[in-house]
Amino acid sequence: MCGIVGYVGRRDAVPLLVDGLKRLEYRGYDSAGIAVMEKGRLEIRKCVGRLSALEEKLARQPVAGAPGIGHTRWATHGEPSEINSHPHTDSTGRIAVVHNGIIENFESLRHDLEKKGHPFRSETDTEVVPHLIEQELKDGARDLPEAIRRALAKARGAYALGIVSLDDPDTIYAARLGSPLIVGVGDDGQFIASDVPAILNQTRKVIYLDDGELAILKAGGVRVMKLDGTEVKPDIREVKLQAEAAERAGFETFMRKEIHEQPRVLRSLLDKHTKDAAAVALQDVGFDDAQWKAVRRIMIISCGTAYYAGSYGRLIIEALTGLPVEIELGSEFRYRDAKLSPDMLVVSVSQSGETADTLASIRKARRAGCKALAICNTPGSSLARESDVVFHTEAGPEIGVASTKAYTAQLMAFALLAIHLGRLRGELTAEQERELVRDLHAVPDAIHYVLARGEEIRAIAQKHGDGPSALYLGRKFNYPTALEGALKNKEISYQHAEGYAAGEMKHGPIALINEYLPVVCLCTKTRDEVYEKMISNMKEVEARHGRIIAVASNGDESVLKLAEDIIFVPQVRDEFSPMVNVVALQLLAYFAAQARGTDIDKPRNLAKSVTVE
Ligand code: F6R
Repeated sequence: MCGIVGYVGRRDAVPLLVDGLKRLEYRGYDSAGIAVMEKGRLEIRKCVGRLSALEEKLARQPVAGAPGIGHTRWATHGEPSEINSHPHTDSTGRIAVVHNGIIENFESLRHDLEKKGHPFRSETDTEVVPHLIEQELKDGARDLPEAIRRALAKARGAYALGIVSLDDPDTIYAARLGSPLIVGVGDDGQFIASDVPAILNQTRKVIYLDDGELAILKAGGVRVMKLDGTEVKPDIREVKLQAEAAERAGFETFMRKEIHEQPRVLRSLLDKHTKDAAAVALQDVGFDDAQWKAVRRIMIISCGTAYYAGSYGRLIIEALTGLPVEIELGSEFRYRDAKLSPDMLVVSVSQSGETADTLASIRKARRAGCKALAICNTPGSSLARESDVVFHTEAGPEIGVASTKAYTAQLMAFALLAIHLGRLRGELTAEQERELVRDLHAVPDAIHYVLARGEEIRAIAQKHGDGPSALYLGRKFNYPTALEGALKNKEISYQHAEGYAAGEMKHGPIALINEYLPVVCLCTKTRDEVYEKMISNMKEVEARHGRIIAVASNGDESVLKLAEDIIFVPQVRDEFSPMVNVVALQLLAYFAAQARGTDIDKPRNLAKSVTVE
């Protein structure tokens, strides 16, 4: 999704803006631009395509100065074009604005402004903002802050805004409502950014703006006020992330690096939340035992990959706690007439903590009196701040658009929560808890083992990855793994892929099977009948000459006869096998994408954080 960076201070803003925008590239974009105050003029450079195109333009038409604001745009209103890219200006060219989010009532605002003589150039919703500010100044606003506040009072929707104006040439104005925006407090200037990694190499002191706040940044400091003009004391926090966490560390892509970080991420979650490798002891999650025990029903809400993590969450919580659990897509839940009650714990799952549909759903559930727990990877995000309690997945910045380490960290969070709840509710004995925790501790090493088989997985991906389609089948705990494996494949390799509950195959997808269709079967050994059922499903695929790629437990001879290719993985407890098996599927998708030559970290049309509906 779009990215925002801004700088005001003694340094030249241009290199800082370009560097910051590069660090936001992972969010996905199709055009970019900057506005910079240069010797009393407001200079704008924008262009379609990658930031390298903007850099070339800046080399041809240099600009230097400060303050400056920059933007990477992911088209929503109007095609990717130079005119539609940000910054947008008012009719006099004195005010420039960058914007993330959507101004929902822009058509009526634009209509009114056009009647008052404002010429519009772009098809964007954003362009109304500088014109509104200009109009408020004409209509008697005392100064720019008042004009901005009055303009924003008229805008409906969501925004994170960076604003500069020749009327206040040493200042950046920044406002947020529903779209993330932070202020970075530096020693030689101040920054704005839509995401922390953009400015992490410049400062670690940040202010997370709240909805309805306006920040006024000057070289020497920052003031924050509400849109009604009341001053707010800025809450400056130290970000713990290291800048290197958002770098590739020698890997060819961020996604590859993040896949390889999974053992470490899971190990540190385990170290933090278990005691003597024998019991779960949740740290900093915020509920006391009585609050956990008061939970009667759980509803999990999330989108995309996080929804599949939630689907796993439902299975593991049901299995270990006896609590009834429902799972909902954020985009559906927010418009449903679901029955909600205060004894219900609503669990959101999100890497970014900014997914619009997940956020809207949590707000709805909290209005109905439910308690909200966020399983979230981004401290300070809207979801983390708006929930009653947070389980921080602490996977570090995930830059690759396709989620990997955040997913396995979400699965681990659910496993730990389920054990904790199961024990508190008397569904698990101390001995059972000890065994579960011991088995969880085997997961990071098992993932290491899968990572070490990268070259075998690459060969399988190269063999099967060029067909038009693939089917992924799994059961019970590995049904979400099949869905996630298929999603990874389509996202980054663009090969059409379907994830299915293996038992559903006979109800339709079996018609697809022929000698060309790769069928990825998750058939690691289980203690129950699920494994046998998977073997039967594989026989059905084999009988129709489908090309089986099995993910199987080390040493499982029976799979050898059925599968064309096998990815052997260490056997871990059934309940925890999704954390291991999914890594094989991440690599399978990764190498298929590499063979197809796609842009793995920034797949087409996708955005890292979906902050609009
Ligand atoms: C897929 C992927 C997306 C996200 C989804 C929710 O690889 O990353 O499907 O899972 O957009 O995003 P978050 O987790 O930020 O709420």
